[in-house]
Amino acid sequence: MTLAKIAMQADEFRLIREYVAESMGLVLEEGTQKGLAARLSPRLHELRLRSFAEYYSYLKFSPMRSAEVQRLVPLITNNETYFFREAAQLSVLVQEVLPALKEKKLAEGERTLRILSAGCSSGEEAYTLAMLLLESGGFSWDWDVRITGIDIDTRVLDAARQGSYGERAFWATEPHLVERYLKRQGDRYVVRDILRKWTSFTQANLLDLADSIGGERYDVILCRNVLIYFGDQTVQRVVDNFSALQGPGSYLFLGHSESLSRTQASYLPLRFPGAIIYQKRV
Ligand SMILES: C[S@@+](CC[C@H](N)C(=O)[O-])C[C@H]1O[C@@H](n2cnc3c(N)ncnc32)[C@H](O)[C@@H]1O
Repeated sequence: MTLAKIAMQADEFRLIREYVAESMGLVLEEGTQKGLAARLSPRLHELRLRSFAEYYSYLKFSPMRSAEVQRLVPLITNNETYFFREAAQLSVLVQEVLPALKEKKLAEGERTLRILSAGCSSGEEAYTLAMLLLESGGFSWDWDVRITGIDIDTRVLDAARQGSYGERAFWATEPHLVERYLKRQGDRYVVRDILRKWTSFTQANLLDLADSIGGERYDVILCRNVLIYFGDQTVQRVVDNFSALQGPGSYLFLGHSESLSRTQASYLPLRFPGAIIYQKRV
């Protein structure tokens, strides 16, 4: 039996929208009210709630609120991703950024590399980075490399840890790389241990990184196709959080449709053919 859809009133949408913006940074666009009501109605029935005002109180005040947020997240986020997304940026990473970092680290007598995939979804970006590092040949066994994927959504993080993908995830990947770094299991492709060695996945909210991953300094942060869903003030807050995790000269990659405003003083834009990246100012 399908239960009736519960209507969401304008003031209820406003409350949920404010809550989502405040706690996750995401902007629920005007016009998404009906769709959201349809996706959430089964959950309200499960909880025996009669209105979205009651659901809002449940989200804010129930002892089960953190678990409820995890149920809400997949209904409002876009998790689309694939291997080797935005090739022009990845070329800049391989040809410019990694050699520069390697030279700097060796000059300082250090052999560590820390990369953050922020808003990693199901892990394709983090595993792509591991493949690029391995293919570059510049970081051998005596380097301590860590690629950390973070996301707010525990469901996609489980998928990232499993590392099992359908063919569609590789439409932008050269076939010989799929062959080298993944093994076929039926109609799935599973990442090989060599990729797992450097990668790990942790739940974290970009609005508040200090408690989750605050102890680390990242040489490169990629936060691509995430900030487009945030408002201007939230973008500023997230970039400030990144800045606190990076030393001078470190690099930040955003999606090609995302750029930092000129008021963002902590990063300098570096322009390359087909890609802009950012470097933390000294
Ligand atoms: C479209 S995917 C981008 C994946 C990958 N970076 C790429 O470019 O292909 C956006 C991801 O950002 C995550 N996200 C959204 N808001 C977040 C937040 N406040 N903290 C952490 N992750 C968030 C979503 O759960 C989603 O998995």
